[in-house]
Amino acid sequence: MSNLFSQKIIILDFGSQYTQLIARRVRELGVYSEIKAWDARIDASLISDASGIIFSGGPESVTDGANAPKIPEILFSYKIPILGICYGMQAIAKFFGGEVQSSSKREFGYARLKKVNESLLLEGVADHRSEGNEEFLDVWMSHGDKVVRIPEGFSCIASTKSCPIAAFSNEQKSIYGLQFHPEVTHTKQGSSILKRFVRDICECDEVWTSDAIIEDQINRVRELVGAESVLLGLSGGVDSSVVAALLNKAIGNKLTCVFVDNGLLRKDEGDMVMQMFADNMGIKVVRANAQEEFLEALEGVKDPEKKRKIIGQTFIEVFERESKNIGDIEFLAQGTIYPDVIESAGAETGKAHVIKSHHNVGGLPSEMKLRLVEPLKELFKDEVRKIGLTLGLPKQMVFRHPFPGPGLGVRILGEVKKEYADILREADAIFIEELHRSGWYEKTSQAFAVFLPVKSVGVVGDARRYEWVIALRAVETIDFMTARSAPLPHDLLETVSNRIINEISEVSRVTYDISSKPPSTIEWE
Ligand code: XMP
Repeated sequence: MSNLFSQKIIILDFGSQYTQLIARRVRELGVYSEIKAWDARIDASLISDASGIIFSGGPESVTDGANAPKIPEILFSYKIPILGICYGMQAIAKFFGGEVQSSSKREFGYARLKKVNESLLLEGVADHRSEGNEEFLDVWMSHGDKVVRIPEGFSCIASTKSCPIAAFSNEQKSIYGLQFHPEVTHTKQGSSILKRFVRDICECDEVWTSDAIIEDQINRVRELVGAESVLLGLSGGVDSSVVAALLNKAIGNKLTCVFVDNGLLRKDEGDMVMQMFADNMGIKVVRANAQEEFLEALEGVKDPEKKRKIIGQTFIEVFERESKNIGDIEFLAQGTIYPDVIESAGAETGKAHVIKSHHNVGGLPSEMKLRLVEPLKELFKDEVRKIGLTLGLPKQMVFRHPFPGPGLGVRILGEVKKEYADILREADAIFIEELHRSGWYEKTSQAFAVFLPVKSVGVVGDARRYEWVIALRAVETIDFMTARSAPLPHDLLETVSNRIINEISEVSRVTYDISSKPPSTIEWE
């Protein structure tokens, strides 16, 4: 095993929405982390390889008796440092004979934490100091239950007004518990606390860096692929683009990419992809111009799910045809990233709280019998982006908003027509250009225009216009599972609307979508 993975932190997931955030924070500290479901098979080899274990928070209550998720006993039989966060802390308390009190009243938001005892975990970490040299931290809480009696061998290390046992430790055993959430940025010293745990208490070195990850992957890809050829479905999205750049570095002309232009891409997208990868980087890219094939297959189809299926199926047909033309391919590369792996693991055990079933363009045609290369399988999106930058991909491509596999096909409501796609492309390009110009692009997680196939009246100059409607959508979100409409300034919306109506004669009205997810979704279909 390479040096990169020789020290790792295991995150035991009790179902918190912040579990992935904990794993990312640990990696930001330069240490590899891996998420395991609390009820996954946890064997001795997994634990003996770990340098530390973190228990996440979770939606359940340890007071629920047999139904409550429990910490596998085996974890305490090794001398590995342990940190429990929120539910994780309560589960530790329960395991060692402490008492947890259930409450339906939640404490949510900022709290001022006072350190009440020395501990390795909070040593040197403080936001404020009183004249009497007491130390305080601004932390973020989100809990109902709390520990009300400390287990034997543990001591309270920090308190808040409403939660007297807000942190505890057993320094001898290197077991720590925090009622608040160090993984969220609202806890100002959260990263320093996790650093104390990961780097000082678990004694991990800072080895998980972009350069090291790239070098490791290049070696692994070369070892796996040998002299064989690799095929990659390039979509122009961040993940497949980073795979292309990485494989190009690892195996050069043994890589061939297939880029399917389905006629549902954004303005100039096809040309941009060809220019960046084929012209600038010298990667072999086959561009399949299949616009008509997709539009024909979609003719007369209004139902969003049917459209998705047709687009997915047509993609596979085109992709297979092109791959057969290339011939002599042994491996298929995919831009699978770590959250996909976690989600499908969750889906297998039926434990995942929300499972996305989106069709991803680039999906594996199973009958092709190709072996898989998935060099991003261990990485979070932000790590993929960092690697993309290190590999020399331009910033505007690496930080591009996500684009759904079915593309404009789900942003043209009802039947898809070329005429509609052309109008939408122009409107979308104006919106995105103005977002960049005003500095709002980076402040939103996803923004796009939607084509509404309804006609509305307008007056342009002296003429009456009876044309189509464009809706603008811009959202802020962390995980795309929940989202809120971005509070774009009125001036900006007005500029975008004026430009769209003036520059695109087929549009007479522009609206801004202010719905949240839930109950709405981000896409309109
Ligand atoms: P929704 O509309 O479900 O979108 O709130 C959440 C995120 O998923 C993207 N999305 C898709 N991605 N194929 C994809 O590859 C799809 O069919 C699809 N539908 C939605 C959407 O753009 C957003 O980022």
